[in-house]
Amino acid sequence: MNARETDVVALLTGQHEEIIALFPQAAESEQAFRRLARLLTAHEAAEQEVVHPHVRRQGGGRDSMIDDRLREEHEIKRQLSALDEMGTGHPDFPAQLESLRIEVLAHARAEERYEFSCLATLEEQARTSMIIALTATTSRAAVGENA
Ligand SMILES: [Fe+2]
Ligand SMILES: [Fe+2]
Repeated sequence: MNARETDVVALLTGQHEEIIALFPQAAESEQAFRRLARLLTAHEAAEQEVVHPHVRRQGGGRDSMIDDRLREEHEIKRQLSALDEMGTGHPDFPAQLESLRIEVLAHARAEERYEFSCLATLEEQARTSMIIALTATTSRAAVGENA
């Protein structure tokens, strides 16, 4: 794997770490929860737009692996909107947030283990577009933060 291929994986893995690291603060502050929700939503949307379709197109029995990841992302989205409706002041919020953290962590590790290795065969142009799309994701989340 050369440096550029590693960059796509490093970018995605870096976003995973950033998201996971926000959970303790999100339990303490509304603002941190909002930031976590924005980053998580943007990250999963970018994977659905850019990463999963690419890996699915490679064939070789990867369909069911991608379907598993999409099911997890659907569950993450469901739990996130339940938390959002509940509000950070709700007595069940910390337990529900912990449940989401466990779900997100398992999902991120499954992507890193089974899916990101498939990005090693990306061609130059696809790699560049993927990096641009993923960087745009982070920027969109940052803009939302300042809005
Ligand atoms: Fe994902
Ligand atoms: Fe991910």
